[in-house]
Amino acid sequence: MTTIFDGDRRHFLTLAGATAAAGFIPTRFAIAGNAPVKIGILLPYSGTYAMLGESITNAFKMRIDEAGGKLGGRSVEYVAIDSEMSVPKAGQNVNKLISKQKADFILGPVHSGIAAVMAKIIGKKGSPIMIDPNAGSNAVTGALCAPNIFRTSFSNWQTAVMAGPAMYDAGHRTIITISWKYGAGIQMMQAGRESFEKAGGKSVKDILNPFPSVEFQAHLSTIADMKPDAVFAFFSGGGAIKFLKDYEAAGLKAKIPLYGTGFLTEGVEKPAGSAAEGVQTTLHYVRDLPNETNKRFIANYEKQFGAGKSNVFAVQGYDAASLLLQGMAAVDGDVGAQGKIISAMGSAVIDSPRGKFTFSKSHNPVQNIYLREVRNGKQVTLKTLAKGLEDPAVGCKA
Ligand code: BEZ
Repeated sequence: MTTIFDGDRRHFLTLAGATAAAGFIPTRFAIAGNAPVKIGILLPYSGTYAMLGESITNAFKMRIDEAGGKLGGRSVEYVAIDSEMSVPKAGQNVNKLISKQKADFILGPVHSGIAAVMAKIIGKKGSPIMIDPNAGSNAVTGALCAPNIFRTSFSNWQTAVMAGPAMYDAGHRTIITISWKYGAGIQMMQAGRESFEKAGGKSVKDILNPFPSVEFQAHLSTIADMKPDAVFAFFSGGGAIKFLKDYEAAGLKAKIPLYGTGFLTEGVEKPAGSAAEGVQTTLHYVRDLPNETNKRFIANYEKQFGAGKSNVFAVQGYDAASLLLQGMAAVDGDVGAQGKIISAMGSAVIDSPRGKFTFSKSHNPVQNIYLREVRNGKQVTLKTLAKGLEDPAVGCKA
């Protein structure tokens, strides 16, 4: 009997006490107690968001390694699927991780459309626990919220809502918004546009490009013709590099200031080069935040993965692992105690490189939003735009 439990002495003692009276019936945890905890990962490792998926995965594993490579005293096994950023394949992929791989937890995704599919399936099933380390779909912690769904990144609304007043305060009175035509871009542009108009400005055109197309020339001609005071954009990864370069090459950068949610310049400062210089964005993280966790995180990450490689996506992956470590510590590795894991995760304080944060009732981070600018290839904080900003969680009934 003891061999079943020798990886977790506390559970052995608890169960041994109970079995004296009740007779010994091995629980699922007793049988699986020494088996590795399986993390099913659905992230992009190809295409325009590949850098995002890799950064999240690297930092998630790095955080687990920092904690001795164990979750609640158990070793960890990873099973990863490349999401290919495919919404049609998302259901099949997540079902593969749950039913075939029998993952104990699901980490993913990056893309808002995939997040909505995952949240519908996993929320309805009630298990396992899903941690969204990037995708900002408002619905994931809004209308699709569920006790077993957590997010360590942001809602699309959170990243854009402070951009409107920031652009207005900089003296701009008209903007054009431009983004990819899917949930993330549509929701960010809506929050930016509405907050700009509430501040007193006018949004004169919304341009939507199919995802993940990087054909921008016709749109840049429209911007040049309409001459707004500023442009507000969402693109990320490889597509962001192309947009920044095309904007500069079209001669627009010197004439019409470019703004965006932080993803426009995050993690692409080097390849975008001069095209990213001076571009101002709003986000919940800046590389130069002076807290000790951030300094330690950047040093460790860049030692392993290369100078200048840390970014907000890695931060969100790192924090997803910190969240899971707290949940699993609360139950000593018993993944069957899902209620206790959820309650420990819901009340967790995450010591993040972005600064300490907690979760809202709908399991979304309550966090600061900063105005940043790229200077000499690095993100620099200009201003704190909001402290402890909480997503309104529209439609969340859980
Ligand atoms: C999204 O689809 O939610 C997303 C993708 C990349 C960066 C930020 C958000």
